[in-house]
Formats: sequence, structure tokens, C-alpha cells
Amino acid sequence: MDVRTFWLAGRPATGDTELTVTNPHDGRAVGRHSVPTDAQVEEAVAAAHAVARQAAALPVHVRAEALAHVSRRLAERAEEIADLITAENGKPIFWARGEVSRAVATFRFAAEEARRWSGGVQRLDTEPAATGRLAYVSRVPHGPVLAITPFNFPLNLVAHKVAPAIAVGAPVVVKPAPATPLSALLLGEILAETDLPPGMFSVLPVENERASALVLDPRLPVVSFTGSAPVGYAIADQVPRKHVTLELGGNAAAVVLADADLDWAAQRIALYSNYQAGQSCIAVQRVIVEQPVYDAFVERLVPAVAGLVTGDPADEKTQVGPLVSEHAAERVEQWVQEAVAAGAKVLAGGTREGATIAPTVLTDVPHDAKVACEEVFGPVMILQPAASVGEAYAMVNDSKYGLQAGVFTRSLDAAFQANRELEVGGVIIGDVPSYRADQMPYGGVKDSGIGREGLHSAMEDLTYEKVMVLTGLTL
Ligand code: SIN
Repeated sequence: MDVRTFWLAGRPATGDTELTVTNPHDGRAVGRHSVPTDAQVEEAVAAAHAVARQAAALPVHVRAEALAHVSRRLAERAEEIADLITAENGKPIFWARGEVSRAVATFRFAAEEARRWSGGVQRLDTEPAATGRLAYVSRVPHGPVLAITPFNFPLNLVAHKVAPAIAVGAPVVVKPAPATPLSALLLGEILAETDLPPGMFSVLPVENERASALVLDPRLPVVSFTGSAPVGYAIADQVPRKHVTLELGGNAAAVVLADADLDWAAQRIALYSNYQAGQSCIAVQRVIVEQPVYDAFVERLVPAVAGLVTGDPADEKTQVGPLVSEHAAERVEQWVQEAVAAGAKVLAGGTREGATIAPTVLTDVPHDAKVACEEVFGPVMILQPAASVGEAYAMVNDSKYGLQAGVFTRSLDAAFQANRELEVGGVIIGDVPSYRADQMPYGGVKDSGIGREGLHSAMEDLTYEKVMVLTGLTL
């Protein structure tokens, strides 16, 4: 098996150890990669630091063309990359193809945003003392970015950190998830085809225990992390003076109001509780249904869930594949069993085979069960009736998390009420909370994180406003 190189300041490199990546579905080895030594990590960080000023001054056409190149190449190599995502992550090929298309769009949006990234002017002659003065307001990168990325979208969630960094002219050092580094390494291969200066990017597949040294390194003033809340907040606590962006977990709720199209809601909730085996921060976990339509909705939902095709993720027909590891599946199984022991009823699923959990629907789940109040990150949903719209929204808010919520309703009043009342970063009306368009602001409140991604929002997040005042002008 070929050993993939990693990317050190834009060039391929090998260390003195290697790691194997396995397919969660059948345990077969799908790739090997070289692991950077401490000296190579140091070299990558030093290079990012050294190039920062040059990177910030790169003409926009250079940044935009590099981003557009990555977008085109991802599109050209889409099928190969989708196969790689499926092999290393266990995501069904259908969803892996969707992830590649999204990454194509993520880089394309970044190229477009880079060209629009112009700063602005503000007249200051609003007061007599400032006659003849004008402010030019630009945005300047905080500096090199450390991007720590998760396993669940091994390409597109790397894209969401790399693309805006390049767009604003910030060097980026990527530490991909140890379970799924191959997609990020392939992205490095495509980035290396561009004219970006050496040091502008590195992809360092180091073990998690070695991330702390990178987090603490003062030459990487920005840490952008996607992953679990405990790890994210530990990072923020470690470096309180750094600019830290955290895209963390959730136990996303879908609310089905009495006026909803129940067939549509059932289909969408069945699919998006279980897509990627529930391993998305916005997968549907809590389903809150207004009492008058509760029974009619459950009648539609349970067959829709039971009808999902589970199996080999490489099979075109598979809708639900394995979790990232058998260990992860055992943890989900245990949470389901704990809920059942505490009185929950299983309407579908509840079983495990290796790393695969059958799509599971639970009712009568005690409020303090982990499947209700923690992030399951598995194909499990819980059903809860609500006496009114107000009660349904209060139930959504009864969570330490607040990433996105979905509300199935045809009522504009109920939609605006949701927007006013729900404590989340995004409200999706007429669909599941799992909807994400890559250009839109994305991020949470409460324990779901700090900051926003989505190209324009991430570009703002990676930069600060700088003002230059011009004096003595005739305006
Ligand atoms: C996430 O799991 O936070 C990302 C979801 C997405 O990009 O669709």
C-alpha cells in the first residue's frame, strides 16, 4: 500500500513513522500516511509565521485563483474523492458525493467572496471638528490559523477552515482527525498545485495528544476547532487570549406543528436523523410534535425510519452506514440501553451489529437520559409530544446546546415566533435542523460554540477591522 505524504509548508514530506487508516464498515486498511516529527511540526509553524505578512498582502486575484483552482480540481476528481471519504469515514457513497459537491461550492464561494472583500469608507465630517476627514475601514487577518478538524465531514469541514483563511490571506495549519486524515491530505495535494507561497498551508496528521502544543504555540494566534464541546472548551480555557472559534455539538430538535405537511416532515426527519449514521452536529435528535398530530405523525415516521436501507456504505443503495468505529457504536448502544432501562420504549431499531446501529426511534425517554440531554452523534431520535407551539419551543430551548432547529409549519406567525424564541444559531422553517448551505452563517449559541462559519462570516471571524483616517480632504 502506498504511503501518503503529508504537507509541510506546501510541499510533500515524510516523517519517520506511519499510521494506517481503516474502513469502519469492514475494518480493512484503506490507506497509510506518514506522520510528521516534532521538528517537522515546528518547521510548518515557523513557515506559517514567516509568511503571514506576505500572505496578507497577496493580491486578491492570486488568492481567488488558487481557491477557484481547488474548486475545479475537486469537481474533476469528485468520484475518486467521494470513494476515499466513504472508505475512511464509512459514510454512504451517496452522502460522500454530496460532501464533495459541497466542498466544490465552499471553495467557489470563497473565491467569489475574496474578490468582493474590499473594505469600506466612512465619512467622518459628520461633526464640524472632523471636516475633511474620511475613514478607510479594511479587515486584516489576526494571523496564522490552526484548524483542528473532525472526522464527520473529512473534506468539507476542512474546506470551511482552509478556504476562508486563504481568502483573507491567512496561512493555515490543518490538524485533521486521526480517523479520517486521507481526505485532508488529498486536499493538500490539490492546494500544492496552486501558486500560493510556501508556508501558506500545511496538513499535519499528528495524533490528538500532540495538538495541545500547536494550540499553545503563540505563532498560531487563531484556533478554529470543530468537534465535541468538552474538547472545544478545554481549548478555549487553555488559550484565553487567542482568537478561538468553536463549532461544537448539538442535540438538534425538529418541531412538527399541527399545520405541518406530515408526510414531508416524516420523510425528512427519518432521513436526517440517520444521515451519516447521525454523525452530524445538526442531525435530528429530538423530535417535538404538537399533540393533535402526534399519533398521525408517528404512524408515518416509524415506517419511514424502518424503511431506510442500512449496509455497506460503498453500495449505491445504502442510506445508513456504520459509525466511525465499533467503539463509537458501542457507546451509542449503551446510551439507548440506559434510556430503555429507565422506561423508554423502542419504536424502531435499538440494535447494533459491529459499528452499525439500526436507525432507532425512542419514546417516553426520561428527561435526564443521555439520549435526551447529551449529543448522541448516532442514528437515534427521541419523540416528545408538546401541548402547544409555545411549549414546543420551550422544549427546544430546554437544552444546553443551541446550534440549529427545524420547524415544520406553514404559518408565518409560527415561523417568526420560532425565530424570536428559539435559542439557536439557525432556525430552518419547513425542514430539518440539518439543513446547511455552505455560504450561510453557521454556528451555535450556548454550549454549541463561539463564532460563525460560512464563507463571509468565517472571513470576518478570521480578521479584525482596521481603520485608516485620511485628513485634509475636500469631500
Ligand atoms: C457539523 O456537523 O457541524 C457540520 C454539518 C454540515 O456541515 O452539514
